[in-house]
Amino acid sequence: MSKFKRTLITTALPYANGPIHIGHLAGVYVPADIYARYLRLKKEDVIMIGGSDEHGVPITIKAKNEGVTPQDIVDRYHEIIKESFQKLGISFDVYSRTSSEIHHETASEFFRKLYETGKLIEKTSEQYFDEENKQFLADRYIIGTCPKCGFEKAYGDQCESCGTSLSPTELINPTSTLSGNQPVLKETKHWYLPLDQYEPWLREWILEGHKEWKPNVYGQVKSWIDGGLQPRAVTRDLEWGVPVPVEGIEGKVLYVWFDAPIGYISATKELTPEWETYWKDPETRMLHFIGKDNIVFHCIIFPAMLKAEGTYNLPENVPANEFLNLENDKISTSRNWAVWLHEYLEEFPGKEDVLKYVLTANAPETKDNDFTWKDFQARNNNELVAVLGNFVNRALVLTQKYYEGVIPAAGELSDFDKETLASISTIKADVEKSLDNFRIREALKNAMDLARLGNKYLADEEPWKVIKTDPERVKTILNVCLQVTANLTICLEPFLPFSMDKLRGFLNLEKMDWEKLGDTALLPVGHKVNKPELLFEKIEDSVIETQLQKLEDTKKANEMATAKAAPAKENIEFDDFAKMDVRAGTVIECEKVAKTKKLLKLTIDTGIDKRTVVSGIAEYYQPEELIGKQVSILVNLAPKSLKGIESQGMILCAENADGTLSIVSPDKKVKNGSEIR
Ligand code: 2FM
Ligand code: ZN
Repeated sequence: MSKFKRTLITTALPYANGPIHIGHLAGVYVPADIYARYLRLKKEDVIMIGGSDEHGVPITIKAKNEGVTPQDIVDRYHEIIKESFQKLGISFDVYSRTSSEIHHETASEFFRKLYETGKLIEKTSEQYFDEENKQFLADRYIIGTCPKCGFEKAYGDQCESCGTSLSPTELINPTSTLSGNQPVLKETKHWYLPLDQYEPWLREWILEGHKEWKPNVYGQVKSWIDGGLQPRAVTRDLEWGVPVPVEGIEGKVLYVWFDAPIGYISATKELTPEWETYWKDPETRMLHFIGKDNIVFHCIIFPAMLKAEGTYNLPENVPANEFLNLENDKISTSRNWAVWLHEYLEEFPGKEDVLKYVLTANAPETKDNDFTWKDFQARNNNELVAVLGNFVNRALVLTQKYYEGVIPAAGELSDFDKETLASISTIKADVEKSLDNFRIREALKNAMDLARLGNKYLADEEPWKVIKTDPERVKTILNVCLQVTANLTICLEPFLPFSMDKLRGFLNLEKMDWEKLGDTALLPVGHKVNKPELLFEKIEDSVIETQLQKLEDTKKANEMATAKAAPAKENIEFDDFAKMDVRAGTVIECEKVAKTKKLLKLTIDTGIDKRTVVSGIAEYYQPEELIGKQVSILVNLAPKSLKGIESQGMILCAENADGTLSIVSPDKKVKNGSEIR
């Protein structure tokens, strides 16, 4: 590992204002977990840090909406998040939280050091203030048009459309998200990190010194530095957060993006008394796994903070990913457009690795990518089941069948046998190269090549046929297959840890280090393997349809929530209205109109007469439920023939935003024939 002796992996701390979804997983936690597992298999000294980001405006906004305290919100989501990560097998060495005492102390001490060594600028300036709520509008309390890209809902600290980090005063047409009012300007004192002073150093350190960083990361950093850096406020006029540790200062807290990355340090302190080795020894390599919206904070602001503090290491690499979409639409917590991890775990028990596999195979490493349920099904059925599962199963079933589970000795190896076995080492080298360069998706593809290799070998050698003519040769074929299978348990361990554990169970094999990968005698002759079960199961269409229906329902609910009422029609005179003769009437008969989906034929007692009406409500009501129901009927509408039936009037309905119909009935039963006006 070159000049480094150990690795510190940090993973972006998710806001504890909602559960984890597939976007978080694909962007940060799954790749970080694979990488950490890989290093552990290589016996390297590595720790992986995680925790909940429990400060910041998203949390206070959620608390306000629900009428509970911010602490209630973070307590709730911290537990949900932590548990779901654990069940998915994200192997944090510590999963901490930023409302903890140790974090408050660490963040305060960090700020105090910068404050006392003159690294911060104290400045009084005019900031936006909501007069109705008597509150300064920081971060997500204020939205407006982004001065860079024109996105109309940019937040006070960042535009989520173009990623630019902003200050509220840069927004065009600022509006308070608390009251919807235009804010006023009011003076307030804050502390700033003078990022402009770090510009030459950042240029040298990243633009000259880290040309190997991923192009998406390097490119973003370069464009920000080239655009000119401004001093950045690191305190806020808010109640929720780490209080500003300066005597006599009340009602101010540290900016969430100042305290959150320090959370990585606090979490390491919580994990080990050796925390300083991981943060300060130059032989430690620090890696930040993040999503692209966090690049500016991890490549510019946090490094500038670390540099200002002076005793910490800087990140060696920041392998940030792009975004994952869901069924061609941006994942969104507020629109509930997501696959939520805690729900997935309940709905797909035992399929933790499948989700990790699909998210890795389709990881948004170089560009935004799309998760679709059909792709999820296809990758499970065509890759995990048909290639990996199929190979392993056939090898083990044949071993049971021919040798009662005992590994047979190989005879003389053919060229193809030798080639197949030699490929294991080539694949190992490929996987290593990809992982060492944070190309996790490619690494998975390379690792799966070992299963493909085994599957092809078995299909080409056809031991089930050869057994009839040359049973000795079958021993060699199965020995080769079993050695490939044993190697799979190492090669795929970082990616599919639960499944490889299961496979080791079938093989009756202990977990082995990465170093062993390539060894073609992992299973000694005479070793007995266990009876196998299926490693992966096929996912049926109905399962996928249920998920797609769930998303369809979400879409509908969102449309309903955002639908606006149609504007009022032009005014009319009362006489125009009075021309309509609407009466209360009772349904006495009702049946479906044959060969139609939408029409019901109703007989209505209008108090005047009994008449037939045809109405397009069959999708919303069963005929039986309408019999006896009182409705409103327009009785003087000119009769009209529908599907050969004369309809003598119209039943009044309210049309919902999604086009569904609901009959308008008198609130209390009235005499049939009562006029409705
Ligand atoms: O974007 C986010 O979800 C932030 N909560 C990430 C914080 S990362 C770190 F610095 F804590
Ligand atoms: Zn923008």
